[in-house]
Amino acid sequence: MNLKSENIHPFSELLSRQSKEDLLVQRARVLWLTGLSGSGKSTIARGLEEALYKKGFLTAVLDGDNIRAGLNNNLGFSNEDREENIRRIAEVAKLFLQNGIITICAFVSPTEAMRTLAKSIIGEDDLVEIFVNTSFEDCRQRDVKGLYAKAQQGGIKDFTGVNAPYEIPAKPDLEIKTQNKSIAESVDEVLNYVFPKIRIPHSEIRNPS
Ligand code: ADX
Repeated sequence: MNLKSENIHPFSELLSRQSKEDLLVQRARVLWLTGLSGSGKSTIARGLEEALYKKGFLTAVLDGDNIRAGLNNNLGFSNEDREENIRRIAEVAKLFLQNGIITICAFVSPTEAMRTLAKSIIGEDDLVEIFVNTSFEDCRQRDVKGLYAKAQQGGIKDFTGVNAPYEIPAKPDLEIKTQNKSIAESVDEVLNYVFPKIRIPHSEIRNPS
């Protein structure tokens, strides 16, 4: 542990994660979407949240652009800052997880080291790694935010895929190949994969005690 402050005494939660999951009638997981900028992570995250909400699941979405506008507004895009970005997000996601909430994270998280860091904080079994596989060429052509054009003209330093690396996940739990797929189809794929992990079967539903 890297503690700057001494004499702190973190207490463990009063109510267990399981009792909160029972209350919400769901099992919590962190659904971690990784992929290039513009690959569709945020759109899938929003679609997923809506679909899960309709099925009665409580979720929270943590998204790159939003978190960087607030909690992480002192961080840039150097490797070191991205690692700190991911570390803080993983800690926040863990807090949600411990409170029974299905937490959808949408971050480029471009290196294996960053994704391993997130897993080490959250716990390997509780993090579902989902690779949103949209090719560089598709992202560059769509360029919704105009960032690829800007980066290729030299206007952005350390832009993922142009002058900063994106390491393809070696063993994601799920890979969504978005080419020729609608958003709804991608969302459905994720939904089908995670549903058995977050659902409490009828026979196991208990009243919170
Ligand atoms: S991460 O690499 O640290 O995981 P994060 O997901 O938080 O990145 O933020 C990525 C978003 O920031 C992109 O979708 C894009 O809109 C914006 N952005 C701005 N500069 C960069 C950059 N140099 N590289 C990647 N994304 C950038």
